[in-house]
Amino acid sequence: MTERILLFGRGGQVGTEARPLFERLGEVVALDHDDVDLRNVDALRETIRSIRPTILVNAAAYTAVDKAESEPETARAINAAAPATMAEEAARLGAQMVHYSTDYVYPGDGTRPYREDDPTGPLGVYGQTKLDGDLAVLEALPEAVILRTSWVFSPHGHNFVKTMLRLADEGRTHLRVVADQRGTPTAASLLADGALAAVEHCIPGGVYHLTNAGETTWYGFAEAIFAARARLLPEAPPVTVEPIATADYPTLARRPAYSVLDGAKWDALGRVVRASWRDALLQTFPTLP
Ligand SMILES: NC(=O)c1ccc[n+]([C@@H]2O[C@H](COP(=O)([O-])OP(=O)(O)OC[C@H]3O[C@@H](n4cnc5c(N)ncnc54)[C@H](OP(=O)(O)O)[C@@H]3O)[C@@H](O)[C@H]2O)c1
Repeated sequence: MTERILLFGRGGQVGTEARPLFERLGEVVALDHDDVDLRNVDALRETIRSIRPTILVNAAAYTAVDKAESEPETARAINAAAPATMAEEAARLGAQMVHYSTDYVYPGDGTRPYREDDPTGPLGVYGQTKLDGDLAVLEALPEAVILRTSWVFSPHGHNFVKTMLRLADEGRTHLRVVADQRGTPTAASLLADGALAAVEHCIPGGVYHLTNAGETTWYGFAEAIFAARARLLPEAPPVTVEPIATADYPTLARRPAYSVLDGAKWDALGRVVRASWRDALLQTFPTLP
């Protein structure tokens, strides 16, 4: 059967990777902000009803972690209310649904990788609204698959890799980067592969942790980025990275100190293998953007 796939977040990091992959399964209708504003529940419902997807992938989200602190209602509408509506409509249509979630649903005071059934405890508005979205999606559609991930990077959109490279391009040769937050950088392409595998293999509904393998700090991530840049651009002035504490880099939203996710539940499916984050970084940026 040819599928009809409705993808939200067309222009985002994950949406950009997911769109061409899902074209293998059938017709993809990929939408962005300009097509339907997810804050408008009625327009969202009407859009889903008119397209009648057999598969719904939600890669859209309000991802501005700090700005969310001053725009909680907007973050809630996009991260909680909109996914709830999507799940309700997918349930009505008998459609499969894949949704994405975040490591920021956890409190970050753990000492071993978080498992899917560990207690949540978001530290900020972004994490809280994403958690509310996860719960609402599963309540409306228990068969929905939620891929919970962390520290996403890709050649598109905004992310830490591109910020580091931009600062270097602007002539910065010394950067101070937080060294006491641990997590796992994850390629958006892995998240697109994961969504495709989830629907192709009809994996059981629920939350799955899906990140690249391994863990590091933002400082360790920056070091790896500049090591790769030095190999690709040997004539460029080197960038040195100084490790600093979170307390030395105040942000509006608190971030979890430790948000490594345990991927055993995903790995047990035996579908998409999780490369190390270092390999994923080099594969994602074989050349500099
Ligand atoms: N980025 C990370 O480090 C990270 C970490 C953990 C989990 N995640 C999760 O992974 C998923 C994908 O993240 P990503 O990094 O690919 O996100 P992204 O690059 O920020 O893209 C988000 C997309 O959502 C769209 N969007 C935002 N507000 C909208 C609205 N009101 N109406 C319609 N579309 C709207 C954006 O469109 P516009 O650009 O036009 O606004 C954009 O296409 C999200 O669920 C996110 O919570 C991300």
